[in-house]
Amino acid sequence: MHPAPSNNQRPAPPRHIAIIMDGNGRWAKARGLPRFAGHQRGADSVREAVQSCRELGVSYLTLYAFSSENWKRPASEVDDLMGLLRVYLRREMDELHRNDIRVRFIGDRSRLAPDIIDLLSRYEITTGKNTSMTLVVALNYGSQNEIVDACRRLAEEVEAGKRRASEIDATLFASYLQTADIPDPDLLIRTSGEQRLSNFLLWQSAYSELVFVNTLWPDFGRKSLEDAIDEFHRRDRRYGATEG
Ligand code: IPE
Ligand code: IPE
Ligand code: MG
Repeated sequence: MHPAPSNNQRPAPPRHIAIIMDGNGRWAKARGLPRFAGHQRGADSVREAVQSCRELGVSYLTLYAFSSENWKRPASEVDDLMGLLRVYLRREMDELHRNDIRVRFIGDRSRLAPDIIDLLSRYEITTGKNTSMTLVVALNYGSQNEIVDACRRLAEEVEAGKRRASEIDATLFASYLQTADIPDPDLLIRTSGEQRLSNFLLWQSAYSELVFVNTLWPDFGRKSLEDAIDEFHRRDRRYGATEG
């Protein structure tokens, strides 16, 4: 199905864009700066991406902020990342809410600091009824854990006699994922030149258009986003069927 042209003749934007925001460390290294400086600039790119997506009419934006594997980094870097996350969450709440953006989180929040867990709940309560765009932040997120967790809960329900194994299909399974009520990403962007998913939305990206760009995340601005969207519009999504 082709999107209907909007007023300014541009085709409608992808409904859901997901971004693997990568390359902060390399951005800093290229400038002889500590990795922290790259993460700091990365947070500015987050602001810009959220604002641009809202202005372009994207309905869902999912950002990979911290993976379940990122705990493997030196403790000092993990602390820096959590510190920046705290600053970002505290600073942006009012503006996100004013812009009518609903903010949600996926990932295992139990390992995060109590004050951050508290902030996440406050976001969900404060912004829960906003409708202009949904921002999904993946924090301590790992797709394999998410899938295993869904399997375990389904298995428990079968064990308890609440479900029959034969009723499990892809639709039911997806409803046990943390993204249950979020449409799958249409466009998945990864910055920094790496071409892998790094445990991000493995189930949900089954038919996403993947766009890999060399730009490092701190350099990724409105123009880069529009270029990625243009690339998306040049793709022919067939979903296994024939052309047309
Ligand atoms: C992305 O930038 C930020 C996170 C993964 C949290 P990196 O920190 O991975 O930057 P590179 O890949 O080392 O350049
Ligand atoms: C993926 O980036 C995770 C986030 C962007 C949060 P990484 O930098 O952690 O991925 P790898 O290690 O290069 O696969
Ligand atoms: Mg990286």
